[in-house]
Amino acid sequence: MFLAMNRFKIARGREEEFVDHWRRRESYLQEVPGFVRFHLLQGAVTEECTLFASHTEWTDEAAFTAWTQSEAFMKAHANAGKSARELYLGPPQLELFESVL
Ligand code: HEM
Repeated sequence: MFLAMNRFKIARGREEEFVDHWRRRESYLQEVPGFVRFHLLQGAVTEECTLFASHTEWTDEAAFTAWTQSEAFMKAHANAGKSARELYLGPPQLELFESVL
């Protein structure tokens, strides 16, 4: 099992807009070999921002890597950088985890 998480810092008051954007996105994950599941997670709230993470589970790292080089990834990100800039406090931070137990 392999996990890929991308963490987003979202400006306070813009959370609903962010979640709605993800809810209405065109998703291509179901057709990707080795994809297991997706969650959009909401985390800690600070004075500055609310933390979110896109969380994907894969059968193995090779499946994840293949997806990042696929048309499904490109299509999903065609508009990703074009959302309202003030929604995001900085670029997303990618974290990758290999299951060890
Ligand atoms: C290897 C790095 C990345 C991973 C693992 C990742 C993960 C994901 C996943 C799983 C989805 C949903 C795809 C689908 O449903 O088909 C997605 C969409 C999205 N990603 Fe990424 N992403 C990466 C890079 C980025 C970057 C650099 C940005 C910011 C510029 C970004 C912003 C977004 C946004 C805003 C969406 C929602 C779709 C949309 O806006 O149309 N991602 N990403």
